[in-house]
Amino acid sequence: MSFRTAIEEKLASLREQCASKYPMPALRIGDKTAALSIVQGGMGVGISLSNLAAAVAREGGIGVIAANAIGMIEDDYYDDPAAANVRALRRELREARRKAAGLIGVNIMVAVDCFHPLLEAAVEERADILFLGAGLPIKGIPVRAIREAGVRVVPIVSSGRAARLIFRSWEKHYGDIPDGVVVEGPRAGGHLGFKPDEIDDPAFQLERIVPEVVRALGEFETRWGRSLPVIAAGGIFTGEDIYRFLGLGASGVQLGTRFVATDECDADVRFKQAYVACREEDIVIIESPVGLPGRAVRGPFLEAVARGGKKIFRCPSRCLESCAAGKARYCISEALDSARKGDLENGFAFCGANAHRVEAIVPVKQLVAGLKQSYALAAFVGAMRTEVAKRAETLAALRDEYKATLAGVRGRFEAGLRHMAEEREAVCRDEKARMLERLAQIKAEYDQIKERIRELSAEIAVLLNAEPALSAI
Ligand SMILES: Cc1cc2nc3c(=O)[nH]c(=O)nc-3n(C[C@H](O)[C@H](O)[C@H](O)COP(=O)(O)O)c2cc1C
Repeated sequence: MSFRTAIEEKLASLREQCASKYPMPALRIGDKTAALSIVQGGMGVGISLSNLAAAVAREGGIGVIAANAIGMIEDDYYDDPAAANVRALRRELREARRKAAGLIGVNIMVAVDCFHPLLEAAVEERADILFLGAGLPIKGIPVRAIREAGVRVVPIVSSGRAARLIFRSWEKHYGDIPDGVVVEGPRAGGHLGFKPDEIDDPAFQLERIVPEVVRALGEFETRWGRSLPVIAAGGIFTGEDIYRFLGLGASGVQLGTRFVATDECDADVRFKQAYVACREEDIVIIESPVGLPGRAVRGPFLEAVARGGKKIFRCPSRCLESCAAGKARYCISEALDSARKGDLENGFAFCGANAHRVEAIVPVKQLVAGLKQSYALAAFVGAMRTEVAKRAETLAALRDEYKATLAGVRGRFEAGLRHMAEEREAVCRDEKARMLERLAQIKAEYDQIKERIRELSAEIAVLLNAEPALSAI
């Protein structure tokens, strides 16, 4: 058997062993528990509807329906956008429930004109969790009705400051707090809650803001005696990434890009293929007409816009308050709706920074199984690293003890023995013998631990060589 085959076989058997030994943890949001710590990010327009949400819920994650401009999937959207939005949301929620048991959430952008009717519909339909982003969900939230319906609320934030602001404001106005937060970093897909110059700034990366948000919520956890999960989002691609963010204090992760490239995603297959086909240089930051930066796959539509081409569009309602509809070169909802239908001449696909790493369109079941497996392997390497670190600490302590004992033997006894009375001399000899015995024990223990560290390090090196993604653990 070749060396490579041997390693691959070892890796395959390890994967199997690890999957049961290091299962991905559950995610608890208030009284709702998902078997896996994975949330599928809400993706508008019409990218995450009942089909994707149900498939994710079936696998143990939280499936999320994106509510903004959801009415565009209806024939009469341009006659009455609000009615079409509410009708489509209700239908998709019921459909998701019919297709799968498990947790189904709704993502609503706070800034949309239809925010309140959509929120009320989601509460009446008893969505499990409301994910509220693109603005601060502070004013006019029907907290009482939400609680009576047993619905949980999770705002989407980009900083600890925003999280604190929302929680303090809820305390003051509603005598209550939300049930957790999603913290979305600048590598996410769709509209971003960062200024263009912050997107690549190390100070704003997800690794930095997750611990900041965890700290911000700590104060409220203590005061309210509740545990408030922080869910990390933006650029999380593998099980290793999931393991890393849970290690930074997150209780779960939210993935968007990976779920687009699935059979069950509700977008047209040409939208998904745009991910498979794109290269890193095709992923660009755009200035959306709604005044926020966004990340998308470059294509004919965005190129035409960049050349100054003005598209003709219908604007039935200014659906986002911040939209400069009068000056805009195109309608973002219309462009996203065209892309959803696979018409990439008249629209473009929003995507996360890692879309170029997508290699294939796969069933959700396969994607989730892969994430669970790579999570388990990462957890296994993490546990080995922790063991190495603990043993290295023991080695250092043994080394110190050895040095001190040796100094004692040499100094206190050998020099002193010459001048002592016979009786004391016997006591000292016994003590010296005991110390020498301890020295021998320390040495044996030291050698044993050193050998174990050597074995673990060699095993880790083989794993990292076979699976380079693990080196980030
Ligand atoms: C196509 C697409 C559409 C999105 N639409 C929304 C949306 O309507 N509302 C929202 O809060 N987030 C939206 N997002 C962000 C996702 O919910 C998710 O947080 C983010 O994409 C996570 O980063 P990842 O794609 O790197 O996994 C969208 C993302 C993508 C890729």
